[in-house]
Amino acid sequence: MSNITKICRKINSFEKTINVSGDKSLSIRWVLFSSMGNGKSKAFNLLLSEDVLAAINAVKKLGIKVNINKKYCTIFGNGPSGYKYKKNITINAQNSGTLGRLIMGILIDAPYKIKIVGDKSLSKRDFSRIANPLKKFGAKIKLTNKGLPLTICGNKNLKPIKYLENRGSAQCKSSVIFAGLKTLGKSFIKAKKSRNHTELLCKHLKLPIKIKKTKNYDLIEIKKAKKINPLTNYKIPSDISSGAFFIVLTALSDNSKLLIKNVNINPSRIGIITILKRMGVNIKFKNKQNYKGEVTADILVKSSKKLKAINCPSKFNSQAIDEFLIIFLIAAKANGVSYFKDIGELDQKESPRLKWGSKILNKMGIKTITTDSSIKIFGNPDLKINKKIVIKSYLNDHRVFMTSVIAALAFGGTWDIYDKDSIKTSFPTFLNIINDLRK
Ligand code: S3P
Repeated sequence: MSNITKICRKINSFEKTINVSGDKSLSIRWVLFSSMGNGKSKAFNLLLSEDVLAAINAVKKLGIKVNINKKYCTIFGNGPSGYKYKKNITINAQNSGTLGRLIMGILIDAPYKIKIVGDKSLSKRDFSRIANPLKKFGAKIKLTNKGLPLTICGNKNLKPIKYLENRGSAQCKSSVIFAGLKTLGKSFIKAKKSRNHTELLCKHLKLPIKIKKTKNYDLIEIKKAKKINPLTNYKIPSDISSGAFFIVLTALSDNSKLLIKNVNINPSRIGIITILKRMGVNIKFKNKQNYKGEVTADILVKSSKKLKAINCPSKFNSQAIDEFLIIFLIAAKANGVSYFKDIGELDQKESPRLKWGSKILNKMGIKTITTDSSIKIFGNPDLKINKKIVIKSYLNDHRVFMTSVIAALAFGGTWDIYDKDSIKTSFPTFLNIINDLRK
């Protein structure tokens, strides 16, 4: 089957209720915590995408039994030190930075060298940011240049560390939390605000973690966990990063309305909502609930007639880190020049997304001025596309693919969008939902 999606007409107006896939960050964390749980964990609505299946394969290689059926997934953990280590284990993190980085923290006590490899995109990404703090605990880590393939070998005599996480990276913070949970004594992290699912799961599981919140940083203290309760009957809420594509499609389409059911609206993830509301998008949360430490809601979004440019405060960056490409499409149609700054981290993702953002916009006829860490987008409220556009993200970046599909459906033109397969990493049902909305 061809790996190209061809789109040659705008979407008609729609009014629908949809479900998007389970939260990827939570799904991977559920697998990792459950693999260290004392007993049987069970999750419903686990995202069965390639990134999460890579996490499942990784824990299976470490001797953990996993069963998946149509309704749920069960993991049979043997406790925090219950992996069955063998010599010459290789873990393939495939496309997943979250898996590759988080599991390193868990392998801090591995008695043998474990090799971690990944796909072409992951192999270009920086792992020194996580190797450096883990080496201070006492792990031996050998990187290739600054990344994969790498080997990690743990240590029996781990030492607690003090670590300043200054990028706003939840992956780095989480990896160090996992290492702290395996280390006697108190480890401390001063972490710039970022998504906090790991901390919330620790709290839900009553693990020895203390968090003090200050304006820009969280001060986290972690002690060794002797036991980890299994995560039973965990219903993974839907992923706002997947919902984001449909929020933007609805806002940009005429006379349309969409309800996205049961989405995780954890405050550390809803930068897109804050930013889009400021730009004039009509979004509401309905049926808000607390769920095992997370917050969920149905998201109601309507077409937006007038969109305003934004000078986006950097304090929203970490909360919207995976959504900037799709937010840029709103800026493309907004009245005025939008400015997004301090977003150099986008170029550290599955592909250099800041560069891709401006590339897609320029192909659409939108002017941009881009630096290493910022972009100005000159919006055009009358934007209509009448030409042929080809998008080929050579690093197979799922978010470049999905953003391009939304642009084609929202603005028209004739598009050939390569790398359809990339959606398998995070959102395998993306095109099914698109087809449902186009009916
Ligand atoms: C993630 C953290 C973010 C995000 C990624 C998922 C996580 O990465 O971009 O898609 O689940 O912890 P960084 O922590 O590297 O910013």
